[in-house]
Amino acid sequence: MDNGQIIGTPKELAKGEARVAMTPESAIHLQKLGYRCAIQSGAGKLAGFSDDAYKEAGVEIIKTAKGLWEKAGIIAKVQQPESRELKYLAKGKTLISFFNPAGNEEGMEAAKTSGANVIAMEMVPRISRAQKMDALSSMANIAGYRAVIEAGNNFGRFFTGQITAAGKVPPAKVLVVGAGVAGLAAIGASVSLGAITYAFDVRPEVAEQVESMGAEFVYLDFEEEQQDGAETGGYASVSSPEFREAQLAKFRELAPEVDIVITTALIPNREAPKLWLEDMVAAMKTGSVVVDLAAERGGNCEGTVKDEKVVTDNGVTIIGYTDFPSRMAAQASTLYSTNIRHMMTDLTPEKDGQVNHNMEDDVIRGATVTFEGDITFPPPPPKVKAIAAQKKPEVKELTPEEKREKEIADFKAASKQQFTLLGVGALLMLIVGAFAPASFMQHFIVFVLSCFVGFQVIWNVSHSLHTPLMAVTNAISGIVILGAVLQIGSESNLVAIMAAISVLIATINIVGGFLVTRRMLAMFEKS
Ligand code: NAI
Repeated sequence: MDNGQIIGTPKELAKGEARVAMTPESAIHLQKLGYRCAIQSGAGKLAGFSDDAYKEAGVEIIKTAKGLWEKAGIIAKVQQPESRELKYLAKGKTLISFFNPAGNEEGMEAAKTSGANVIAMEMVPRISRAQKMDALSSMANIAGYRAVIEAGNNFGRFFTGQITAAGKVPPAKVLVVGAGVAGLAAIGASVSLGAITYAFDVRPEVAEQVESMGAEFVYLDFEEEQQDGAETGGYASVSSPEFREAQLAKFRELAPEVDIVITTALIPNREAPKLWLEDMVAAMKTGSVVVDLAAERGGNCEGTVKDEKVVTDNGVTIIGYTDFPSRMAAQASTLYSTNIRHMMTDLTPEKDGQVNHNMEDDVIRGATVTFEGDITFPPPPPKVKAIAAQKKPEVKELTPEEKREKEIADFKAASKQQFTLLGVGALLMLIVGAFAPASFMQHFIVFVLSCFVGFQVIWNVSHSLHTPLMAVTNAISGIVILGAVLQIGSESNLVAIMAAISVLIATINIVGGFLVTRRMLAMFEKS
């Protein structure tokens, strides 16, 4: 489509940033939405995507950043724009990138005065429907994985235990603090490398996930009202001082034992809580490694230096890099560009290459920080609750007397309904019986009763029992086939045809039943 808007991606300006917001593959998808794509020459080089690869995917290569910003109606990039980029913002343009709206006054002001619409990728709400656009999660996933690789790179031993001719090697012990997106990715990588992995989080509901991944959840001897992630948009809230003390005591106990600590604990819009204190670092063995993913917000570990790797006096390496996703630029760009193209899909319901910036849509509204000259940040809370533990509706506890009264009332209502139905049925039978021959009535009554019984059986079966139900219906279909086969040789053509149809339909039912059962069982099989 030639009249679609142009989506452009400039080269990232931030030092060391290797990611790019458009890949040749994402460009192909964007073009299917009716857009034309453009990229600044060399923008994908550090992530491993050459200009030629983009050209092949139908992307126009533009030499300068200025040319690109001026030509494109929609700009997709990774890092928040720098001052020299902000001056290109203009009315009618849409910018999609990380924007740090709470701490980027200059950017917000520039976006407001220029009238540009800005979608901040970190503001995508954490609701199920928006998961495919959740760039914070896709980047945290990479950071978690990379944290383990980085730790391994700085750790002088194997992760997995080995018994070799040259001696016995114990497995490494890894502790992951904070089992959110990054934490779970770190647990996955650490377990698969063979380390004994422990994990801790203030949200008890993640214990099951941690354990299902093969790690051990660290429980505290402490009773505190459970935190409910749904209340805070899927995030933890601040824990009480007593809880914190219990947590620190547990960590103190673990410190001399663990070889690698990966900290990812975070509460949104706050400084990272200090959880791995100086004395814990001092208690660790020489050669141990701490990777502090929260370094951007001050770090979870007391010795962390942002963007640096330091080695303490007792030989513990503390890594505080904040650019883990960029260190895996090819992977990060692929996931980030996919997040962007899903955002574009939501912005282009007609697939006509034109942005429909629908501020009624929860996800688009939540992520938009400036719209047509107005600052629209912070957004109202989304109408849909966060993914994390949704609260069960409250059910009022009944007293035994109330329960009994309710049961009697329910029984009376059900009986009344059944009697009415039976009455109507008997009346109909009488009317039909007055006119129909006796032989017909005999079969007809059996037919009506079997319909009634079949309906009652199927209607009252709970969903979870539908697979065994399939087996029952297969048995019934088998009986139908048997009866039909007996009738198929009948002299009457009509009876033979009806019998043949019965065989066909019952066979379809049986084969279909087996297929559905197979599929359902496959869902529970471990791959
Ligand atoms: P998340 O919100 O999904 O997970 C954070 C987890 O920490 C939550 O499960 C929360 O319950 C837990 N937590 C909070 N307070 C705690 C406490 N006192 N003790 C134990 N657990 C606690 O966040 P996500 O997306 O996993 O990100 C984790 C961290 O990684 C963030 O600090 C983020 O900024 C950082 N990050 C770092 C990158 C880097 O290159 N260094 C790249 C991407 C993310």
